[in-house]
Amino acid sequence: MNLGRLNPYVRGLRTFPGDAALAYQLEGAAGLWRALAERSLYHLARHGHLLVIAQTLDSFREVPPPGGVTIAQATAASWQALAPIATQRTLDRFHQRSARGHVCLVAWRGDRAIGYTWCAERVGPDILPYPISFPPTAAYLFDLYVVRPERANGVGSALVSARLTWARERGLGEGWRMISPSNHASVRTVEKTAGRGARVVGEIRYVRILGRVYGRYQPLGQ
Ligand SMILES: CC(C)(COP(=O)(O)OP(=O)(O)OC[C@H]1O[C@@H](n2cnc3c(N)ncnc32)[C@H](O)[C@@H]1OP(=O)(O)O)[C@@H](O)C(=O)NCCC(=O)NCCS
Repeated sequence: MNLGRLNPYVRGLRTFPGDAALAYQLEGAAGLWRALAERSLYHLARHGHLLVIAQTLDSFREVPPPGGVTIAQATAASWQALAPIATQRTLDRFHQRSARGHVCLVAWRGDRAIGYTWCAERVGPDILPYPISFPPTAAYLFDLYVVRPERANGVGSALVSARLTWARERGLGEGWRMISPSNHASVRTVEKTAGRGARVVGEIRYVRILGRVYGRYQPLGQ
């Protein structure tokens, strides 16, 4: 038996007390539940429904950050600054993504990190575990987060705008993202940055069983 496969679970148990405390502080009972479920229930079974959104990069609506907030690409020094707003489990994932060349944009109020998002020029199963035929001219823009006290002030939409700008500067044609249609705040960040080329290109229904993801992608009329 390959005991190495148990390492993530052992680390999950080890980091649980600290992560649970931080998740409760950041997101209340929902955060605490999520920290627990990520290490237990979600490994066993989980299902969901996501919309796949494409935004053309020559026509999205640019949203500047609100006063006092700046957005910049993460550097090696940023990971420590993210520790008050990201659990150890999340930071572990961030290090892996960064090592694979994906880019994190961080929103700052002064020297305090208040949000982040991720950008990828190329997708792999580590960040996109669904069977989507992803166009080579599209960036995958994902994992958007703003701390609770800073929400509904435009920071999330500014991060979405900044990652679309990041993709445009790389010469790509579109930015693709996925949202849960029931996440109203997330849907609003699409609406607030949508230009004429924004559209729903498909939907995904997925089931995750025993750590494996089974997804069905249904393209919609474009
Ligand atoms: C989604 C998220 C990043 C948005 O960040 P934000 O800084 O609040 O974004 P913005 O202020 O630019 O816009 C959010 C919009 O949603 C609205 N909104 C915020 N929270 C809401 C809620 N709980 N219910 C309904 N609407 C909400 C805001 O009023 C705002 O709309 P408005 O400009 O018309 O007033 C933030 O809510 C978050 O981090 N949520 C938890 C993580 C998450 O769900 N990420 C998205 C995964 S795709």
